Amino acid sequence: MRNGVNAFCRSGRVPFMYEYGFESFVIWYIHFSRNSRTVPEPDINPRGLLHPEAGSGLHILVTGGAGFIGSHAVMVLAGAGHAVTVLDNLSRGNAGALRALRDMIPARRFRFLRVDLGDRATLCSALATSSPPLDLVMHFAAVAYVGESMRDPLQYYKNVTVNTVNLLDCMAANGIKKLVYSSTCAVYGNPEKLPVTEQTPPVPINPYGQSKLMAEEPDFKAIILRYFNVYGSDPLGRLGEYPRPELRSQSRISGACMDAALGLVGHLTVKGTRHPTEDGTCVRDYIHVMDLISAHEVAMRHLANPPPLYNIGTGKGVSVKQFVEACRRVTQRDITVVYQEEARPGDYAAVWSDVSKINRELGWRANYTDIEEGLRHAWQWRVKHPHGYAQ
Ligand SMILES: NC(=O)c1ccc[n+]([C@@H]2O[C@H](COP(=O)([O-])OP(=O)(O)OC[C@H]3O[C@@H](n4cnc5c(N)ncnc54)[C@H](O)[C@@H]3O)[C@@H](O)[C@H]2O)c1
Repeated sequence: MRNGVNAFCRSGRVPFMYEYGFESFVIWYIHFSRNSRTVPEPDINPRGLLHPEAGSGLHILVTGGAGFIGSHAVMVLAGAGHAVTVLDNLSRGNAGALRALRDMIPARRFRFLRVDLGDRATLCSALATSSPPLDLVMHFAAVAYVGESMRDPLQYYKNVTVNTVNLLDCMAANGIKKLVYSSTCAVYGNPEKLPVTEQTPPVPINPYGQSKLMAEEPDFKAIILRYFNVYGSDPLGRLGEYPRPELRSQSRISGACMDAALGLVGHLTVKGTRHPTEDGTCVRDYIHVMDLISAHEVAMRHLANPPPLYNIGTGKGVSVKQFVEACRRVTQRDITVVYQEEARPGDYAAVWSDVSKINRELGWRANYTDIEEGLRHAWQWRVKHPHGYAQ
């Protein structure tokens, strides 16, 4: 056993249990065994013919539609009369989110295909056989954790950059030439000047940001949206954010805070207290997922070649400490917060957006600028789903 562990350590990969502790391992194991043994894959109309609303409806491919942001996009797009094909390999998303979507969307507007973007032949064939033909792609599928990208950069270059190239090739081969691309503020790295505009030179400091930047170059009508930190959930409580337990150690501050509030983990660790910011913790721009999706609805009407580029944020910086305090107030739970001096590798100190370009050119701005309101939406779903979507 010891030799096994040493071998893993030498290879730079430490088994989950050793890296994150026994408590996280038990949670992960329970989840894994439920998912792998008992949960059937959702069979949602895979060969079905879809019917967008006559006149204005499109047939939209949403990659990563089982994930946090993608699932919210599917709900909104289908609600607006579009037909949506979700393509996801379920490596990180939730089958339960797809079932929740199936229960709220008419069958003629929604179907799911389990496809890995790395499997180019299956991907191209899925695009070729979609009926009616696809009009547009929203490409959310990715791996998206800074810390993980520092430990396993190749996974990021493969799953973000190479797989985006696969998607673009299959789109071109099938005459689909409209794309909304999910990029990230991680492409800016540690900017010299704040707030960040679209003119700020992209100098990523982690493989996640680098892999996204390298994929920002489609050669047809597209739009590139650089999201800042996404949080919140459907205000009506139909969907939520539930990072899988095996990703808990990497997870974003909102999910981590709620895990602590629910007692699923003993405490919340804030990593990095000596950043050159007012209170020493990182500063981020938190954008509500519903605002982010409304930006997509506007953006899909403004595609061009070469693709325009927009920041999607609120224009306001909030420190991690302030975010945690807001989370405490919203959950009203006694959360133990451990402040760890050492920063997370690959983390930049402060980044927030200048959103005047999208406001001026497309007339979009965020509605939810009070983080407590967004956290209340996330919490109302999480309290009802402490262990994620019903299986
Ligand atoms: N959440 C944020 O704060 C944030 C910020 C900036 C940018 N983004 C970007 O937004 C997008 C969505 O992020 P999210 O937070 O919803 O992540 P998520 O992990 O919840 O969703 C990603 C989805 O993509 C799927 N996927 C991953 N690799 C795949 C592959 N090879 N083939 C098919 N499906 C695959 C996963 O199963 C998952 O359902 C990502 O591109 C991410 O980089 C997110």
